[in-house]
Amino acid sequence: MWRELKPIGRNADTGGYRRYAWTEADRECRAWFQEQAEARGLAYETDRNGNQWAWLGDPSAGDAVVTGSHLDSVPDGGAFDGPLGVVSSFAALDELRRRGAQFTRPLAVTNFGDEEGARFGLACVGSRLAAGQLTREAAYELRDGDGISLPRAMEAAGYDPAAIGPDPERLARVGAFVELHVEQGRALAAMDSGSAAGTGHAVGIASAIWPHGRWRFDFRGEANHAGTTRLVDRRDPMLTYAETVLAARREAELAGAVATFGKISVEPNGVNAIPSLVRGWLDSRAPDQAALDAVVTAIEHAAKERADRDGVDLAVVRESFTPVIEFEHALRDELNRILGGAVPVLGTGAGHDAGILSASVPTAMLFVRNPTGVSHSPAEFAPEDDCVAGVIALADVLEGLACR
Ligand code: GLV
Ligand code: MN
Ligand code: MN
Repeated sequence: MWRELKPIGRNADTGGYRRYAWTEADRECRAWFQEQAEARGLAYETDRNGNQWAWLGDPSAGDAVVTGSHLDSVPDGGAFDGPLGVVSSFAALDELRRRGAQFTRPLAVTNFGDEEGARFGLACVGSRLAAGQLTREAAYELRDGDGISLPRAMEAAGYDPAAIGPDPERLARVGAFVELHVEQGRALAAMDSGSAAGTGHAVGIASAIWPHGRWRFDFRGEANHAGTTRLVDRRDPMLTYAETVLAARREAELAGAVATFGKISVEPNGVNAIPSLVRGWLDSRAPDQAALDAVVTAIEHAAKERADRDGVDLAVVRESFTPVIEFEHALRDELNRILGGAVPVLGTGAGHDAGILSASVPTAMLFVRNPTGVSHSPAEFAPEDDCVAGVIALADVLEGLACR
């Protein structure tokens, strides 16, 4: 499975993945998912929001155990964020069949669409729509960098956008959702395992996801000649933007939060022109809501102060927000019991479909050790032994939940 997925959407120069929603690379990933489902005799379906499902047993029986993740990527993402969860889900099912497991609940493997939000700016679109956390109307307003709307992109990929929207009947069939994911930090690698064999744990269980959001900062100034415009006559939004980036770092440090400007666009984007518009997207996350509010407010305040000095107009729009997610304690404890009781439980600053779905169904996550902690980068990596340990842990969990 890993070999088959490897070339899809991989940029030859960077080695990173560019698997954006409703593009050719996404279509190839989806075709791969369908092949995997059919090769295992699973009943394949695409839901009204373009999420893919592969069923073992009768979906309408209810109380299903569902596992999976996503196949799309950030710009120049790694191979593991998303695909490790989908590949491990199919591999865990293979392992359970090898064990001769007798299922008492339906089981499904899923691929949720557009988790990273790389193309349309909003993360977890597939799960947000299904869970009713994104309305059809709001989804229709989403546009990519070329101005193509989400419904047009879906249509171009052969999907009917008329049907998108809340899917409570489908989610009501799910008794538990478990997402396995590569850890996006070094917590598991750095832990004391208490054994002489060395430090770290191959697998962990998620406790919570930090509250997080994305804000768009529009800095509007005045385009003018880079050679002839005196410094005192300029209204240069790049200056305001630069000061805002430094403020974000400062405020995040003060609050124990994180804040990142990872994407900008500049107009007219000419070397010898003062920009008329700098647009920067802030991603900020914190351990709790109060800290996050404080950080973003302070960054906005610093940006406004500098904008006034630069003669620049500032508009800030919150494009998305996900409150703190505390995964259900009963399911989390059950996973720990199934896995022998000594599995570390850890929080994360990364967003996941599991976090979105946790408002609708009991949800849990397994993390697989990442020795460098690097993620959202071509260098993202998890060693094969740890990936196999993840598959076995997921198989144990699915067996414990679905074969009672
Ligand atoms: C998704 O990976 C996110 O946390 O942005
Ligand atoms: Mn990601
Ligand atoms: Mn992910």
